[in-house]
Amino acid sequence: MNQSHPAKFEWGDSMSVGVEALDRDHRFLVTLIDRLASMDDLGNAPEVEHVLDDLVRYTEEHFEREEEYMRATDYPDLVRHQRLHEEMVKKIEKLRMQFFLGEKEHIGHQTLDFLIHWLQHHVLGEDMKYSPQRRQGEAHPR
Ligand SMILES: [Fe+2]
Repeated sequence: MNQSHPAKFEWGDSMSVGVEALDRDHRFLVTLIDRLASMDDLGNAPEVEHVLDDLVRYTEEHFEREEEYMRATDYPDLVRHQRLHEEMVKKIEKLRMQFFLGEKEHIGHQTLDFLIHWLQHHVLGEDMKYSPQRRQGEAHPR
C-alpha cells in the first residue's frame, strides 16, 4: 500500500546556492527524490536499489565538490559541515543495508522521508550559508 507523498518534487530557483556546479548536483538530488516519490511501490527492490546506488555515488561526488568549494572560498564552518556530510553518508549506507535485509516498503518510505528532510534542512539551510550572495559583506581575510 502506498500512502506517500503525492507532490511532485521539482527544482526551484529558491533552491539555488548561487554556484552552478553545486546547483546542478542539488538538482540531481531533487530528481532522485522525485523518482522515489513517484513510485507506486516503495518496496520495489530493483527500482529503490537503483536510487540507493545512485545516492551513494551522488553523495561521494557531490560532497567532495562542495567541500572543495568551501575550502577554496575559506568557508569558516567547513569542519562542522563535513561532519554533517559524514552523518549523511552513514545514514544512506545504513538505509541501503536495511533495505537489503529488512522490510522493504518501510525502509523505502524512510529513505524518501529522510531525503526530503535533507533537502529542506541541509540543502536549504546549511548549504545556503556558503552561498556567495549570502556571504557578501562578510569579513574575508586573505
Ligand atoms: Fe552540504
